[in-house]
Amino acid sequence: MQRILVTGGAGFIGSNFVHYVIAHTDFAVTVLDKLTYAGNLASLAGLSAERFTFVEGDICDAALVDSLVAGVDAVVHYAAESHNDNSLSDPTPFLHTNITGTFTLLEAVRRHGTRFHHISTDEVYGDLALDDPERFTENTPYNPSSPYSSTKAGSDLLVRAWVRSFGVYATISNCSNNYGPYQHVEKFIPRQITNILDGIRPRLYGAGQNVRDWIHADDHSSAVLTILEKGTAGETYLIGADGERNNKDVIERILAGMGLPADAYDHVSDRPGHDLRYAIDSTKLRSELGWSPSYPDFAAGLAGTIDWYRTNEAWWRPQKAATEAKYLDQGEALRTSGGVHS
Ligand code: NAD
Ligand code: DAU
Repeated sequence: MQRILVTGGAGFIGSNFVHYVIAHTDFAVTVLDKLTYAGNLASLAGLSAERFTFVEGDICDAALVDSLVAGVDAVVHYAAESHNDNSLSDPTPFLHTNITGTFTLLEAVRRHGTRFHHISTDEVYGDLALDDPERFTENTPYNPSSPYSSTKAGSDLLVRAWVRSFGVYATISNCSNNYGPYQHVEKFIPRQITNILDGIRPRLYGAGQNVRDWIHADDHSSAVLTILEKGTAGETYLIGADGERNNKDVIERILAGMGLPADAYDHVSDRPGHDLRYAIDSTKLRSELGWSPSYPDFAAGLAGTIDWYRTNEAWWRPQKAATEAKYLDQGEALRTSGGVHS
């Protein structure tokens, strides 16, 4: 494999993957990205034109997709509308990109016989009780809760159908919550870090008991590269690093890491349909493909992420005010100080 097409490579996880691949392989990388509000060319700054090409465009543009797929050995498909809160206020772009976009790519790889890796999420499995001893595995039934996760589940099922009906050479990975550099400030961890840097108290949805299974974006990238190189056609692999924490604990760690009291945050209205807990059992990936995470220590990874946002204000500042205004528009309201949004 020499040439790969990365869709959504100007987003959070896609850009981390592009940097990882350039550093750890000799592949040439083409990124196809629409540069929505979530795409940022600054996340790809500094890459040499010898091995990196950027194409601005929509994965639903069949002619463009076909011409790009024709020139590569593999496609790694990250492009998506990715934020649950946005999917609750307007599901339309989620249907377009996550469903029609994935369909468009599948038709192109079918025509050209190209290897395809589909990036998906643990949210397709719904949520777990806090005291459930089980974690998600590749055999857990699909049970998505939100417009976002249901469109990701739909895209996974399209991939499975194209494998079975048309013999497309595809793999799927479902990963848990990522953290690290280049994550949009709408997401939980960068939102709280940048709020604190701006003198705004962090915002915790509901009681903050919801659990996410955190993994560093570099570990997601190493897992995807492992699956791309060693995965079996038609197989699904779950990616996780045993990083379960509840949201309250994460906010308290961020506050402590930034020198503030552990209780210096506010509770805000909860997300409708808010999934309670995600937890990944990644035994298959570890035992069959020999993968293991390089960032097992969440505290150290979080400290590095706080440092990154401290030193890269120029990267996140242009999105910050619009993001907070969007949360206000979506009806976020303070619960701990009388419903007045500071
Ligand atoms: P992101 O929102 O940061 O980036 C998405 C990228 O896709 C952006 O650069 C955007 O411009 C691009 N894009 C959107 N619509 C497009 C279209 N129609 N055509 C071309 N490009 C388009 O998302 P992310 O957090 O980096 O997530 C990337 C992928 O990983 C998604 O498929 C998501 O479901 C999956 N995932 C994310 C996480 C997580 O914790 N963030 C965990 C598991 C899986
Ligand atoms: O599990 C993988 C998924 O993780 C990915 O598929 C999604 O693309 C990605 O966005 C992420 O989804 P979540 O909804 O879990 O992530 P988010 O960062 O939006 O929220 C994480 C948790 O924090 C969730 O329980 C909601 C809560 N939260 C979020 C924000 C933005 C807060 O308490 N306060 C906040 O301000």
